[in-house]
Amino acid sequence: MVQFTLPKNSKLTEGETFKAAPGTKNVKRFRIYRWSPDDTANPRIDTYEVDLDKCGPMVLDALIKIKNEIDQTLTFRRSCREGICGSCAMNIDGANTLACTKGIDECKGDVKIYPLPHMPVIKDLVPDLTNFYAQHAFVEPWLQTKSAEPEKEWRQSHEDREKLDGLYECILCACCSTSCPSYWWNGDRYLGPAAL
Ligand code: FES
Repeated sequence: MVQFTLPKNSKLTEGETFKAAPGTKNVKRFRIYRWSPDDTANPRIDTYEVDLDKCGPMVLDALIKIKNEIDQTLTFRRSCREGICGSCAMNIDGANTLACTKGIDECKGDVKIYPLPHMPVIKDLVPDLTNFYAQHAFVEPWLQTKSAEPEKEWRQSHEDREKLDGLYECILCACCSTSCPSYWWNGDRYLGPAAL
């Protein structure tokens, strides 16, 4: 059987632990992947103890609390906090998901948070989605006419609009593509489930 060894500089190390204040009763530990392009250190896992009595219910709430109150260097994307924009996609408890729609109470034990898998990491939980977006643009995912360019607005009927249902809802979070083994191994040639 072929055995692989990770390059030395890709091996995870144990990072810092940020303890909750003494006497805090409802503590949850968040184990979070950290890596910065600004130094030569290996990626590490930092541990943050969060007081759930003073935190919102979603994993994104905890990340925002950590960044605001414990460690401002923690880097992640987020915008809408409503599962609409796709910015907060990451790997939580072993599955790709949106941090703003993942309840902390859905995670048993420590909450393990990594960036989306098999993508280059820009910093901490932020993956480089350049190739993912280029693939999406490549399929030209917009309405295209087979006739000459229209000279005025074409009204869309309700029936025509209904034909789009099921085809436009993707929020481009990249959770599906980065869960796909074919995309992991051939992401440069295989467009992946999101684009397709
Ligand atoms: Fe927009 Fe999570 S912050 S989907």
